[in-house]
Amino acid sequence: MSGRTRADGPKKVTGAARYAADRAFDDVRYAALTTATIPAGRITGLDTSAAEAAPGVVAVLTHRNAPRLSPEISGPYPHGLRPLADDRVRYEGEPVAVVLADTLERAQEAAALVRVTYEREDAVVDTDAALPRAYRPADSFAPVDTSVGDLEAGLAAADVVLERRYGTASRHHSPMEPAATVARWDGEQMTLYDASQGVFNVQAVVASALELPKDKVRVVAEYTGGGFGAKGFIWPHELIAPMAAKALGGTVKLVLTRAQSFAAHGYQPATRQTVTLGARRDGTLTAIRHDAVNVTSTYAEHFEPAAEGTRGLYAAPAIVTTHKVAPVATILPTPMRAPAEGVGLFALESAMDELAYELGVDPIALRLRNHAERNPSTGQPFSSKKLRECYEEGARRFGWADRPMAPGVQRDGDDLVGQGMASVTMFTARFPASARVTIRADGSVLIEVGTQEIGTGVYTIMPQVAAEVLGCDPGQVRIALGDTLLPEAGMTAGSSTTASVGSAVRAAARALARKLASMAFAEGGAPAETATVEGGELVLREGPVRRISLRDLFGQSGVESVSADGSWAPDDGGYSIKTFGAVFAEVRVDADLRIPRVSRLTGVYSAGRIINPLTARGQMTGGMVWGIGQALLEQSVPEPALGRFVSKNLAGYLVPVNADVPDLDASFVDEFDEHAGPLGAKGIGELGATGVGAAIANAVFHATGIRVRDVPITPEDLLV
Ligand code: MOS
Repeated sequence: MSGRTRADGPKKVTGAARYAADRAFDDVRYAALTTATIPAGRITGLDTSAAEAAPGVVAVLTHRNAPRLSPEISGPYPHGLRPLADDRVRYEGEPVAVVLADTLERAQEAAALVRVTYEREDAVVDTDAALPRAYRPADSFAPVDTSVGDLEAGLAAADVVLERRYGTASRHHSPMEPAATVARWDGEQMTLYDASQGVFNVQAVVASALELPKDKVRVVAEYTGGGFGAKGFIWPHELIAPMAAKALGGTVKLVLTRAQSFAAHGYQPATRQTVTLGARRDGTLTAIRHDAVNVTSTYAEHFEPAAEGTRGLYAAPAIVTTHKVAPVATILPTPMRAPAEGVGLFALESAMDELAYELGVDPIALRLRNHAERNPSTGQPFSSKKLRECYEEGARRFGWADRPMAPGVQRDGDDLVGQGMASVTMFTARFPASARVTIRADGSVLIEVGTQEIGTGVYTIMPQVAAEVLGCDPGQVRIALGDTLLPEAGMTAGSSTTASVGSAVRAAARALARKLASMAFAEGGAPAETATVEGGELVLREGPVRRISLRDLFGQSGVESVSADGSWAPDDGGYSIKTFGAVFAEVRVDADLRIPRVSRLTGVYSAGRIINPLTARGQMTGGMVWGIGQALLEQSVPEPALGRFVSKNLAGYLVPVNADVPDLDASFVDEFDEHAGPLGAKGIGELGATGVGAAIANAVFHATGIRVRDVPITPEDLLV
């Protein structure tokens, strides 16, 4: 398919794209939050008089006067807490009051006038301090523990046993668009304009919390300005806005500040991981063990399946993985772009590099020696896997053959230079989805599907999918999305949208083509299984080619448009469905200043069929940039005395900027995965964020001879 440019690009660059906070209503009241300044304890005093007396203030809601939400909130609300329900504080940043006023400035001014006193309780926020209280969590989208083969026998059979401990920092999603919810209550119906990765999730949770029937809650998200997981589940602000709107009547707009976003919708939890590898001299793995701990909140559980990738990557006869969670007094962590493998492969692929040096085996050769032909933990065949080609093509593009094996031997001017690589892999999430496709007499096609556009290219590629079936130009096809009035589709998460929503769109388009063909047959002529559309004409190609004007066809039937529905649900067919690839990094470390910088990154991916090479490349390079952030920059450091994350802004929380990102080389091997779905596509975006951290850390070792096992790697780590 074509590298169609972004259909939503012009709207985004001209400001025409409407995000939640862009919605303007005459009766709007602006909401501003007052948030807790302690990590744990109780509110002992609450004085709202100054805030209530401030100009323009309509109401101040606290736990004393806020409407009660349902005691049993159901749906995807792992956070679980009812906002403004009691005097407890479980994390710094927890909302303790919401001020409603006639302007944003007045609401914010008054929110600062709310006086709160607290009785502080002991709280642990530091990751390592929390480890002694780690416990086994409940299973989530991945099992907590797995074990195949005989680990002890595997380790006993090894010539070399390597056990290493790795750490990843807590990180924040930091999407460009801060969280925003506009809630409108007209006395009967709640409409939410929300920055969301899952409008049906929001509908379910808000309806449950407000004890409204689902059909009385409509959720709209035409554009979402990045989510990366932060907007996947539901968070307190998404309940506070509709609660306030219902209490006051009319419209309430709540936009979180950047600072508030650091304690408002989760974060990627810090992990501590131990990887144990047993291997023979020739590099053959005899055992793999991966034990991971991540921080979670004190009031709810988030389990980060860091060892998930380890379960399916290398063909060892014994593989054991375990997970624990350690409670800290912060808001609940949540998935963040490339959960599981994104944090876990840093450990596994660093350990593989360490093993390669221990044995004196080339890192790619070590991986090829342990190449898995089937999923080593489940025994299932892979639905498709061209990882060997990725190593080969990646090595060729990157120039791996020129790399000396010895670390610390390349110098270019002031820079120590090194190259490292890593395997990449990601689970393939797919969700049930449904869609409707409608064609009008002028040949214009509309796709309706309740999915979301979080920046990945849905407005661009879904029309391509429908156009391919209908045989028309993608420019003829529009898509309406992000609305609970549309056919239900899953949340936009787990890199699942193309395979899931695309399959539903394809099914609906095929149903439409058949419907049009049978309409043409009813009007006389040879029976046809299917039809294509060229401009305003229906084309039947079975037997002599016939062209029928849609206008005539519809006119004869007395209709103005024809619609068809389609749906799709995943089925693994007994296959292990994963994506794979190889990533290569070159770093330069200033010999005196010890600042590590990435100078080259090459990724080659085995990820099923690529629907749009342009948007797909954007997804992979975006993932690589996340990996640079993980390796060298991003960390949310908790401050033990204050019980908060130190930096609540993008000056202190460093994300990669253009100067940190070299030219990125991302490409795909040709693949069609018939088991993943009828499009042949799998998930791509998050795959690009996996393995990069390890490849960069391995390159830093290669440049300097210093092995850093905790990311981000900072100049201090490289001082000698
Ligand atoms: Mo993503 S962490 O699957 O929203």
